Amino acid sequence: MMDKVRRAGILGTGRYVPEKVVTNEDLSAMMDTNDEWIVTRTGIHTRHIAASGEAASDMAAEAGRRALEKAGISADQISFMMVATGTPDYPIPSTASIVQEKLGLSHTGAMDISSGCAGLIHGLITAGGMVSSGMADYVLVISSEILSRHLDWTDRSVCILFGDGASAAVVGPVPEGEGILSFDMGTDGRFWNSIHIPAGGVVQPVSEEAIRNKDIYMKMEGKKVFAWSVRRMKETADISLRRAGLDMKDISLFLFHQANLRIIQCLSEKMGIPMDKIPIELDRFGNTGPASVGIALDEALRKGHIRKGDKVLLDAFGAGFIWSSAVTGF
Ligand SMILES: CC(C)(COP(=O)(O)OP(=O)(O)OC[C@H]1O[C@@H](n2cnc3c(N)ncnc32)[C@H](O)[C@@H]1OP(=O)(O)O)[C@@H](O)C(=O)NCCC(=O)NCCS
Repeated sequence: MMDKVRRAGILGTGRYVPEKVVTNEDLSAMMDTNDEWIVTRTGIHTRHIAASGEAASDMAAEAGRRALEKAGISADQISFMMVATGTPDYPIPSTASIVQEKLGLSHTGAMDISSGCAGLIHGLITAGGMVSSGMADYVLVISSEILSRHLDWTDRSVCILFGDGASAAVVGPVPEGEGILSFDMGTDGRFWNSIHIPAGGVVQPVSEEAIRNKDIYMKMEGKKVFAWSVRRMKETADISLRRAGLDMKDISLFLFHQANLRIIQCLSEKMGIPMDKIPIELDRFGNTGPASVGIALDEALRKGHIRKGDKVLLDAFGAGFIWSSAVTGF
């Protein structure tokens, strides 16, 4: 099994966003904010919000089903699956176990990835390693996030940023020259609490006090996150490009984590990338956490914006602080 070394790449993608759309006007009716402030500061116009009763596993299964269909791979061909999420259905068990059952992937190895918004890219890199080494033939990588359940809908500086969504990709063997050409992963644990939900784990179990203090909701140091996002996403992109032996101009599309249009504009400026090489989906979906890069990739493939021979950079940063990037050929 382990003696095979081969190229691994993305064979097909899928995405799912919940039906309900919440506009900036809807938010303005709920709190002291307005469309102009949100659009100017973030570029976000609308976001999709999961229906009550809809779980991360439901969205993950739907995105996974679509990716399998697109890749032309059946459930029984999948050797391993991962679900990147910061909003699991339950603290125990892993959401991957529930998704495995929903997709009918019997006996497939499954695990969750908790790497913030970098979770999908972390999963793709891990899947690539498994396929390249011959440990697995086809790996399903899914990300699903329902952050709306962990937001304080009176905290206007945080809740306006996020939307719910899921994305997925099937990773498998590809011909030489295609597939994952390089990657980089990083963590800066000094800032683990710059994006976090204080209560709900073992340090501070959910209690009446935690609810009263709003510790069950996500807290974020917006300015710090902004500055480090730009810095780390640029650094990791440079490393992945260097490792692939490629130059900025060799990349057809830059799929950046869709957190904030201003972060992406800063990257475009600092890295000298024209904005037409950077797909923008956050205007419609907001920040969908680890799902965002996958949603942007799925959209680009669907719209025919990625052609055979193209090389694409995936790059994300989030809670932890954790980041990763990869250069992949199609
Ligand atoms: C959150 C973010 C948009 C805030 O933008 P900012 O330019 O830093 O804004 P500030 O926090 O300085 O707030 C400026 C003012 O707008 C106000 N404000 C905050 N949110 C507002 C809203 N939704 N509507 C109207 N006013 C708002 C603030 O209260 C503040 O008012 P004050 O000057 O009277 O105190 C920005 O910091 C950001 O995008 N950070 C990165 C977040 C991110 O991407 N996180 C996920 C990473 S995975």
